[in-house]
Amino acid sequence: MMEQKARILLVDDEENCLRALKDVFELEEIDCITANSGLKALDLFNHNDFDIVITDVRMPGITGIDILRQVKRLRPETFVIILTGHGSIHDAVASIKLGAYQYILKPVIMDDLLPLIKEILTRIEQESSASPLLNLKEPLPSGKTILGQSVRLQNVAKLISKIANTDLPVIILGESGTGKELAATAIHHSSDRAVKPFVAINCAAFPDTLLESELFGYEKGAFTDARNSKAGRIEEADGGTLFLDEIGDMKPAMQAKMLRVLEEHEFQRLGSNKSRRVDIRLISATNRDLRQAIQEKAFRADLYYRLNAVSIAMPPLREIPEDIPLLASHFAREFAARFNRPPVQVEQEAMACLQSYTWPGNVRELANAIRRAVALSDGKTIRLFDLPPHINQESVVAEKTAPDNSKSNLLEDIEREHILKVLDLSGGNKSEAAQILGIHRDTLLRKLKKYGRE
Ligand SMILES: Nc1ncnc2c1ncn2[C@@H]1O[C@H](COP(=O)(O)OP(=O)(O)OP(=O)(O)O)[C@@H](O)[C@H]1O
Ligand SMILES: [Mg+2]
Repeated sequence: MMEQKARILLVDDEENCLRALKDVFELEEIDCITANSGLKALDLFNHNDFDIVITDVRMPGITGIDILRQVKRLRPETFVIILTGHGSIHDAVASIKLGAYQYILKPVIMDDLLPLIKEILTRIEQESSASPLLNLKEPLPSGKTILGQSVRLQNVAKLISKIANTDLPVIILGESGTGKELAATAIHHSSDRAVKPFVAINCAAFPDTLLESELFGYEKGAFTDARNSKAGRIEEADGGTLFLDEIGDMKPAMQAKMLRVLEEHEFQRLGSNKSRRVDIRLISATNRDLRQAIQEKAFRADLYYRLNAVSIAMPPLREIPEDIPLLASHFAREFAARFNRPPVQVEQEAMACLQSYTWPGNVRELANAIRRAVALSDGKTIRLFDLPPHINQESVVAEKTAPDNSKSNLLEDIEREHILKVLDLSGGNKSEAAQILGIHRDTLLRKLKKYGRE
C-alpha cells in the first residue's frame, strides 16, 4: 500500500492505454490524472502540482519530447517517465539526455513501471521531509531557501520570522559559508520591505576611500574622478534593506559615519552639504569576533550596540551534522536538475562520510562537494568514491592499493546495461543500435562479444 498520494500526470493519445494504466494505479491507490493529448497535458501541468509525468512519445501535435522539454523548463525537479514503442527508440535515448528519469517500452509491463514509481515516491518522501524552514512572503529571487531541521537552524528560522517586520538592525555572526548572506536575504524577503531593494555591499572588498564613495555616493567634482554625481548604496537601498557584509573590516572613521546614518536617518553625498533622508533597514554580518575587536579599539562599541539590536548566530555545519542529509539531498537534486540530469540520491555510505567530515567551509563547501559528486556520479546515486578525496580519505587509499578499482568496473557495468538495453529496444538490430549509441558497428560487435552476447 502506498502511503503518499502521488501526483501523477499520465499522457497518451491512446485511450485504452490510459485507462489500463489508470486502473492499475487505482488498485495501488496511486492518484493520477490523465490527458489524451499533449496540449491538454501541458494545460494540466501548468495549473497543478505533479511529482511525476508519464508520457507517450509519439502523439499527434505536441509530442512526449515537447512535454518533457516544457516540464524540465518549468519545474526541473519533476520526474518524467517516457513510454516508447519500438519505432521511437531515438526519441527514448534523446529523452534521457533531456532529463527524463527513465524510459519504458510499450506495451507497458506493470512490473517495470510500478517499482519505478515506488522508487520515485520513496525519493520524494525522503526529500519532502526537506521542507524549507521559512515561510517567506516572497520566494527568494535566487529560488533558494534555508533548509534545516536541527534545533539551532529552527531557532534561526523562528528568530528571522519574528524580527523580519521590525525595523531593528540585525547582526549575523558565523563562520564563512554558514549562510549569513542567505539569512540576510531571507529577512529582507520575509519583511514588508521585500518589494523594495536589497542592497549588499562587502566592506572588505573596498579600500577605505572607495567604500565611503560607494556607500554615500558623491556630487560632481567631489574628487578628481567625480565627473558626474552618483547615488551611493545607502540611497539605492532607500525603503529597503542595506546589507553590510564583513562589517568587522570597516575602519573606525567609516564606522562613525555609519553610526550617524543609523541614528539620524540622514546622510550626505561626498562633496555635498545637503542632508538626505533615508529609510533603511540595516543588516550586517561578520565572521570576526567583534567584542575582541572592540577591546583592541578596532571596532566602535557604540556602533556595535546599535547593530546588535538583534544578533543571529549561524551554526558551523560540523555542529549540526543532523542537517547534513537534508542539505546534501537538496543540493544533489538541485545540481542534477541544473545539469539537466535525472535526480541523484546520496548513498548511505557516502552520507555517513559526509556526516563525519568537519566542513571548514561549511554549507558552501558541502554544496561544492555535492556539485562535483553529481557530475562524477553514474547519474543515479552518489557513492563514496564520487566525493572529493580529502573528504573521502578511505577511497584514496583504496584507489592507490587497487588500480583496477570498483569504479572502472562500475562504469563497465553501466555501459553494458545501457548497450544491452538499446539493443533490446532496437529489436536486436545491431546496425541501428550502433547508430543510436553513436559507436561503430564493429565496436558494438566487439563489446557484445565481450558480454557473451553475439
Ligand atoms: N541552511 C541552508 N540551507 C540551504 N542552503 C544554505 C544554507 N546555508 C547556506 N546555504 C548555501 O550555502 C552557500 C553559502 O551561504 P552564504 O553565502 O550565505 O554564506 P556566508 O556565511 O555569507 O559566507 P561568507 O562568510 O563566506 O560570505 C550559499 O549558496 C547558500 O545558499
Ligand atoms: Mg557572505
